[in-house]
Amino acid sequence: MKYLRTSNLKNKTVLLRVDVNVPIDEKTHGVADCFRIDQIVPTIKLLMENGNKVILCGHLGRPEGKKDEKFTLKPVAEFLANRLFLKFAETKDKVAKYEVPHLVFFTGNIAEEKVQKQIEKVEAKNLVFLENLRFYKGEEENDPVFAKKLSALADVYVNDAFGVDHRAAASTVGVTKYLDSYCGLLLEQEIKSLDTVLHKSQKPFVLMMGGIKISDKVETIQNLAKKADKILLGGGISNLFFLSKGYEIGLSKVEKTAEKTAWHLEKNYKDKIFLPLDVVVADEKMDKYSIRVCAPHEIGKKEMVLDIGPKTILAFAQQLKAAKTIVWNGPLGHFEIKPFDTGTMSLARVVGGVSTRSAYGLVGGGETVDAVRLSHQFEHIDHVSTGGGAMLEYLAGKELPGIEALK
Ligand code: 3PG
Repeated sequence: MKYLRTSNLKNKTVLLRVDVNVPIDEKTHGVADCFRIDQIVPTIKLLMENGNKVILCGHLGRPEGKKDEKFTLKPVAEFLANRLFLKFAETKDKVAKYEVPHLVFFTGNIAEEKVQKQIEKVEAKNLVFLENLRFYKGEEENDPVFAKKLSALADVYVNDAFGVDHRAAASTVGVTKYLDSYCGLLLEQEIKSLDTVLHKSQKPFVLMMGGIKISDKVETIQNLAKKADKILLGGGISNLFFLSKGYEIGLSKVEKTAEKTAWHLEKNYKDKIFLPLDVVVADEKMDKYSIRVCAPHEIGKKEMVLDIGPKTILAFAQQLKAAKTIVWNGPLGHFEIKPFDTGTMSLARVVGGVSTRSAYGLVGGGETVDAVRLSHQFEHIDHVSTGGGAMLEYLAGKELPGIEALK
């Protein structure tokens, strides 16, 4: 694999694939979470400082091959222009002579020659940003014709889109057949950090998993269980284990179809799996007078589990404090609503407290990253991954097509 960091790329036209699939605020239509955007700034800066003309491309949501304004990347482009102190310009197929550096957001069809010619005309001091690649059918289908058109815009390709490298698309795989291809700064960092956990982890290794869906995570748990000494489970995942033990879980959120999965995991990793010792429950309306702490087998029919309880926080914290390697994915409760954020926030602080000191800490997944930010632990953690599904697949030991294509 060729790395941008050691490549000395200068004065080229570079197609840079990034993962800017970020939440957009429904009311303001602005970027609601800039984590992924911030992480690609060093790669853009490095390329631009070396005189390269950068053509940035990415996707937003799942428009399924059709142009749909709901999924426009314009808010991301505007946000990035601001972040990089560039003026913002939007065009379908005509560029002007920009006196000061601009971010030029192209909404025209890049398969058309006149649009390609205009993109070519943009000077290197400006940053080109293409509209959502998933507006084209050929993107997700990894269509070679579309990949060829996309690559025709540049001399070199850089992949810095770890979050989408588990998808074999034209912009992650297809283009590598036509262009000299490099691994970007962020992607290199992601691979390095995930490989540390997979191949160089120190013991004790603690895996903490939460969230609702277990089906996306089961292969990751199975693969990491070979190395992990303790597997701490909370959130909707632990509800499933309670269900498979025959406990009442009332109105709690749970992925019922995966009950067998929980049973198998518990059977195979009995000594490693730690379930909550106590839980915080409330009625359906989350009425404050209905909140109580109870043992997992004491959940009422009209109650729902909303957080882990104080005994569990203490027990999980002790395991995390003794760890030398930590992997955390998924909140341990309904952390968006107070006071059900207590478990997730407390343990985020413990993970932040030991990471970069006594343990190597890796955290990933949209909601988990939110929890890390809300608890102000971001800079204390060794690596906060930009990948949701991609991180889980990588940690499950799978090869990601976008990364393989660079090799
Ligand atoms: C993500 O947000 O996980 C990536 O951008 C991939 O998006 P997708 O699941 O829609 O392919």
